[in-house]
Amino acid sequence: MTAFSGPWGVSFTANLTPDPETGLGKWTEDMFITAMKTGRHEGKGRPILPPMPYFVVAELNDDDIKSLFAYLQSLPPVKNRVPQPVDPPEGGR
Ligand code: HEM
Repeated sequence: MTAFSGPWGVSFTANLTPDPETGLGKWTEDMFITAMKTGRHEGKGRPILPPMPYFVVAELNDDDIKSLFAYLQSLPPVKNRVPQPVDPPEGGR
């Protein structure tokens, strides 16, 4: 349950542990809040793909989103590079 395919192509669940190279180790609290509220990768890039329910997390108040981030940053870092998402075939299916 870590790879999902659909009309968006193939997405892979992010490494949410605080590993600096392959996880959220270099993220700031602001990046996390902005990513969850805007649905943009790292708070500023490409759209975050399904089935990541960022819009559900966005319903939480800022204190709760900050608590989620603090919890994730408290986990032991795991080095696990997740593949980049794959675009769907040209012209769709
Ligand atoms: C409180 C619950 C959750 C939190 C805090 C969370 C957090 C995150 C974060 C921070 C990212 C990286 C976003 C980025 O690229 O900027 C992410 C990506 C992702 N999450 Fe979640 N997530 C949650 C629940 C879920 C659930 C329930 C699913 C699947 C059913 C899921 C699937 C994914 C997928 C597929 C990605 C990669 C999306 C992409 O590459 O664009 N997440 N998540």
